[in-house]
Amino acid sequence: MNAATDNNLPIGIFDSGVGGLTVLQAIRSLLPTENLLYLGDTARLPYGTKSPASITRYAKQATAMLQERRIKLLVVACNTASAVALGALQEHMSPLPVIGVVEPGASAAVTARPGGAHLVLATEATVRLGAYRRAIEFLDPAATVREQACELLVALAEEGWTQGDIATSIVRRYLLEAGGNGFRPDSIILGCTHFPLLSEAIQVAAPAGALLVNSASTTAAVVAGVLQSQGICCDNDSSGGMHFLATDGATRFARVGGQFLGQPLSPNDIELVDL
Ligand code: DGL
Repeated sequence: MNAATDNNLPIGIFDSGVGGLTVLQAIRSLLPTENLLYLGDTARLPYGTKSPASITRYAKQATAMLQERRIKLLVVACNTASAVALGALQEHMSPLPVIGVVEPGASAAVTARPGGAHLVLATEATVRLGAYRRAIEFLDPAATVREQACELLVALAEEGWTQGDIATSIVRRYLLEAGGNGFRPDSIILGCTHFPLLSEAIQVAAPAGALLVNSASTTAAVVAGVLQSQGICCDNDSSGGMHFLATDGATRFARVGGQFLGQPLSPNDIELVDL
């Protein structure tokens, strides 16, 4: 892993769909010369409603494909797969460094609002496992945590319906469900990599003063730290390459993925793969 040629291998980034592109974008901004290889398992999305056994199996298959293509580090840019399977993936991919998004998200929230009340918006599977609750309470025992499953927000993001009345009313409904007993969050954690695309609608619907926390930039900082500490930063001076893999729907991936990236993608930019 430390040989000079290996340092120019890509960072592998994996999500169930296009949501992980929010993390890719943050890594690209912080580390513009690194090569990036992204895989969205769009054929099997959503992961958030599946059983832990299925999520672990899917995540292992997807990440094994990235490892076959040769990567130097893996980012599990999916909260659901991070919550359910990070340990299994670290073991499965060893000695490759594997970074999840839950702990960086929890750490960003407790740093921004120490001793605060945190509302985690995430998928059913992430909420069921209480992954954020554990990570936050470990980092800040004075914090209060409430978790709300918001499965429809994944569908809205994949559809590209991220702004306007429909998105705002659905977000309002979820916030209403989460807000019993006078719970007023100091932070709202976007505990699903699809949700940053709905930031505007979430901010409009959120109680005044609630800070939206996104794990993308904190995860990128963790990636930078691991590359440094393992001596595997790329040797490129110029901008790194990006390559996109998906298991289905190149046209949809390109349309919605372009919104996530803030730059146009063509279906020809997406390589379809079978796991
Ligand atoms: N992007 C995934 C996450 O961060 C969730 C989407 C899904 O349910 O597959 O949890």
